[in-house]
Amino acid sequence: MEKHTILIVDDESAQRLILSGHLKQKGFNVLEAASGNDALSIVNEKLIDIIITDFKMPDITGLDLLKKVKATNPEITVVIVTAFGTIETAVKAMKEGAYDYLTKPIDLDELDLVIKKILERQQLLSENRMLKEQLVDKYNLSGFVADSKKMESVLNFAVRAADSKASILIRGESGTGKEVLAKAIHFMSPRSDKPFIAVSCAALNENLLESELFGHEKGAFTGADKQRRGRFELADEGTLFLDEIGDLPISTQIKLLRVLQEEQFERVGGSYTLSVDVRIIAATNRNIEQLISEGKFREDLFYRINVVTIEIPLLKDRKEDILPLIDFFIGKFIKDTSKKKAEFSKEALDVLIRYDYPGNIRELENIIHHSIVLSRNEIISTDDLPLGIKNLKSEERFRKQTNAMTLPEQVETFEKKMIIEALHESNNNQSKAAKRLGISEGNLRYKLEKLGLKKK
Ligand SMILES: Nc1ncnc2c1ncn2[C@@H]1O[C@H](COP(=O)(O)OP(=O)(O)OP(=O)(O)O)[C@@H](O)[C@H]1O
Ligand SMILES: [Mg+2]
Repeated sequence: MEKHTILIVDDESAQRLILSGHLKQKGFNVLEAASGNDALSIVNEKLIDIIITDFKMPDITGLDLLKKVKATNPEITVVIVTAFGTIETAVKAMKEGAYDYLTKPIDLDELDLVIKKILERQQLLSENRMLKEQLVDKYNLSGFVADSKKMESVLNFAVRAADSKASILIRGESGTGKEVLAKAIHFMSPRSDKPFIAVSCAALNENLLESELFGHEKGAFTGADKQRRGRFELADEGTLFLDEIGDLPISTQIKLLRVLQEEQFERVGGSYTLSVDVRIIAATNRNIEQLISEGKFREDLFYRINVVTIEIPLLKDRKEDILPLIDFFIGKFIKDTSKKKAEFSKEALDVLIRYDYPGNIRELENIIHHSIVLSRNEIISTDDLPLGIKNLKSEERFRKQTNAMTLPEQVETFEKKMIIEALHESNNNQSKAAKRLGISEGNLRYKLEKLGLKKK
């Protein structure tokens, strides 16, 4: 087991000596500080488990030290040492978050007991934290709905790729979930407790993009009034998500290539070389091979990024995911409403399953959001669906109905439908509608009467 580190803070060296001698003997890593400010700078540099601090010190008091440590490193446990008989200060310290207090002269058995309790508690806390992290991971995966065979194999592949540091290129049409998959991979990877930083290569012009990626030094260009860290620096030890990589300007591609090869770069306007350890996940909905053949994307960069490719299929090619996604989005959006529950009618579900989602999951998500907000009832009907899909509904109904009809009935239904549409599109102007249909106005009037459409 790794040694725990205890920091002893006291302006009296004799007192420090007694404590540190005792604790070292017990097998702890012991650090000493002769003042509160010294202690603070040690806290900034080293990993400390426990601080045992005297209350009365010449620069800042033990109470001030406690407050500062709790503000910046709340995971450190602080024990305050007070002179015998000053219980009020001890109480104050406990209120500020000290774990316990000891009175002078310190009874070493009591000290051992306090430290034992602290370590047990820290162990418990870190176990809790781990459990919580596992839940977060799980949530991230269960927030990633994937029931279809196609997505199962995408996920299996992603899980295996997550372990390594290999660059990943995620391909897929707009709204298929490239960014959520990138995040899921990060959270499944050994880098999960390090940052996930996303940057869109499409949104910015060349200069801004470079400063965004690599940062800049003060005065690097007009407006650079401060030094700024780039996304590569921020993502150090974590994952950098380069979204819409196909839109990266060619000059930036060269710089990116160098970073990927050497893991080194300079801030814009700087000469100091920085080293980073970053895992790259890129995404695109563009045909990079074509961009390469047009000279718009560097082939060498493509091979660097494309060590592992994951292709996310269109939603219409994995319809088994639609129902679970609907459930997931109902759960997500119902919270914004006063409704206790919401579900779609059978007909509405039918329409939702048949629809082919050119905007993929993002479109489905918007549709569910729209319907939940608009519907007055717990059961969401076809009428609550957005317009484009509703039209699909009548089309479908038309098709379904026609199957059971005789030929003359089908012809009549078809005629009716064409006439209604023509009238609708010409704002009920009969002569325009007749022209659209390629018949005379008289003929149209006759048909309206015959088909029972006259009053409408
Ligand atoms: N498998 C999934 N489970 C749950 N929600 C998903 C899933 N895939 C995508 N989404 C949701 O759909 C929306 C679009 O996903 P995302 O932004 O990742 O798509 P994208 O492929 O990056 O799209 P674009 O190319 O337009 O940027 C997001 O709101 C996301 O939460
Ligand atoms: Mg995206």
